[in-house]
Amino acid sequence: MRHFAPSRLRATISSGLIRSTTPKPKTLSPFTAISRSTTTNITNSKPSVTFTSNIHTSSSSPSSSSSSKMSSTQISANAVLDLIKQRRTYYPLSKDLGSLTTERINEIVKEALQHVPSSFNSQSNRVVVLLGAEHEKLWDITTETLKAIVPEDSFASTAGKMAMFKGAAGTILFFEDETVVKGMQEQFAVYADRFPVWAVQSDAMLQHTLWVALEAEGLGANLQHYNPLIDAKVAETWSIPESWKLNAQLVFGGKTGDAGEKAFGPVEEKFKSFGSA
Ligand SMILES: Cc1cc2nc3c(=O)[nH]c(=O)nc-3n(C[C@H](O)[C@H](O)[C@H](O)COP(=O)(O)O)c2cc1C
Repeated sequence: MRHFAPSRLRATISSGLIRSTTPKPKTLSPFTAISRSTTTNITNSKPSVTFTSNIHTSSSSPSSSSSSKMSSTQISANAVLDLIKQRRTYYPLSKDLGSLTTERINEIVKEALQHVPSSFNSQSNRVVVLLGAEHEKLWDITTETLKAIVPEDSFASTAGKMAMFKGAAGTILFFEDETVVKGMQEQFAVYADRFPVWAVQSDAMLQHTLWVALEAEGLGANLQHYNPLIDAKVAETWSIPESWKLNAQLVFGGKTGDAGEKAFGPVEEKFKSFGSA
């Protein structure tokens, strides 16, 4: 199956953060093997693996003790960067989740939700995972909503696109809790105008984390933004609290082809560096 190719780094990072209760993956990456010998589990909020450069550290060296300022690590930044580079936008997606169970997907999402940072640790991110018929319902809702506003003569292509999303396996809905943002604004008035921005930034970190985590599990995903058009109907359908503001929808499923070409501007135009280590 192409999206579970052994060459993939699937289940590397995510397996390091979570002890899966699902069957062993068919192919163990070196890091998966390492992580199995560690004490990480989902009830232990302290991951045993930290992601820092391993140039000067090794898991067995004295420098990995808790007294060291430098965190121990069993993988290099390159393993993280490889996954980040592998993450792409994929469509169309299939309903084939391979061996990934609902429980495992929910574990991954919950772990990311808990560990992605937020300003002042305000924890404003909220997530809803929709799978199977519930995922399909979302795209029926979106189709119906768009039908009411898209001109009739161009609706066929819109409907085709919605059918494509519906054909995927699931959708992760990303929200921010406006009650939390408001509370932070009241508590730290001097930063009042920053908290809405920081909430969006934290949500974006979560979106990227999960996009990469799904890639690590061999799945494909694409990011959509049918909010605020669908907000009211989504809230009604899944009893979403009024204070949860929808920010994005990450559609995921099995890859059915390669990602499109991607152009990169020269990094020199985007990067500056001063000083030396
Ligand atoms: C903030 C943000 C918003 C995006 N919105 C959409 C969207 O609404 N629909 C969509 O199909 N792709 C969306 N994308 C995906 C981008 O088009 C895509 O990430 C970009 O072209 C780079 O391609 P890659 O994801 O394959 O690296 C969005 C990406 C980001 C980061």
